[in-house]
Amino acid sequence: MRELAGMTAFVTGGASGIGLALGRAFAEAGMKVMLADVEADALAAAVKSLHNIGPEVRGIDCDVTDAADVERAAKATFDAFGNVHVVCNNAGVAAGGGVDDIALDSWRWVLDVNLMGVVHGVRAFLPHMRAHGEGGHFVNTASMAGMQSGLGFSPYTASKFAVVGMSEGLAPQLAPFGIGVSVLCPGFVRTRIGESGRNRPEQYGATQIPEPGTPTAMLVAMIDEMIRNGIDPADVAARVLAAIRANELYVFTHPEMRAEVEGRFAAITAAFDKTAVPG
Ligand SMILES: NC(=O)c1ccc[n+]([C@@H]2O[C@H](COP(=O)([O-])OP(=O)(O)OC[C@H]3O[C@@H](n4cnc5c(N)ncnc54)[C@H](O)[C@@H]3O)[C@@H](O)[C@H]2O)c1
Repeated sequence: MRELAGMTAFVTGGASGIGLALGRAFAEAGMKVMLADVEADALAAAVKSLHNIGPEVRGIDCDVTDAADVERAAKATFDAFGNVHVVCNNAGVAAGGGVDDIALDSWRWVLDVNLMGVVHGVRAFLPHMRAHGEGGHFVNTASMAGMQSGLGFSPYTASKFAVVGMSEGLAPQLAPFGIGVSVLCPGFVRTRIGESGRNRPEQYGATQIPEPGTPTAMLVAMIDEMIRNGIDPADVAARVLAAIRANELYVFTHPEMRAEVEGRFAAITAAFDKTAVPG
């Protein structure tokens, strides 16, 4: 989508961090913006903070883990703004720990928000986008954790690899309809992702606090520090807008992480050297 002015964007996780920065950048580009989020107070403040920027910015409460709720938010957006062109499936949460010490409830929560939230967003908006025929773009937020693993945040990594794979498959499916797909894979960004537990619903149990001094506690502390020193969400948003305009599938923001991804790919391709069945 080369021209964004006058179009409409829908952004999940729009009350904070990367989602709010995307909302601001879309408003600055002259788009109508619907911010969707579960955190009501933060959402109201986010909408207020953008009021004087774009033509129209609104907010809607929306839990991306619930397909019907995302459909309701989509319909409210059509009613408010008419056709929707850019959908950012961005809401996400993180829970720390290794495969064997993360509660199953945490696995379900992270996968429900980070993976099923993207599925629900695509399903709620795709029929509408195909039908209006004006072109469109999905931006699915994954992470560098969707390109290489090793940080010990197992459900998070699993969810982000899934979003990368799904987005790669979706792009050629939607290209014939003039609908682009980008998968956003940032490294560390200065947001509130480290405080994800603030939005954890009761049905997924309590947030696990790792025992002080354990490897998990040290890992969580290290990651919190890297998030505090992360890049500005506005820089991520600027990269995303450029990617939408140029219809780029992969959206990276941290060039210094290239070597880690190359290392993974080198290990994968090296495994092909051993595929010959010994004679
Ligand atoms: N911050 C980073 O370093 C980083 C790096 C790579 C990827 N990401 C991804 O970026 C995305 C945005 O996260 P962020 O870093 O801006 O964190 P953030 O916590 O600042 O913002 C996330 C937003 O998602 C909302 N949210 C949580 N559960 C929700 C639900 N069920 N339904 C709707 N909204 C919900 C939260 O209320 C919050 O407003 C996430 O998908 C995250 O995994 C973040």
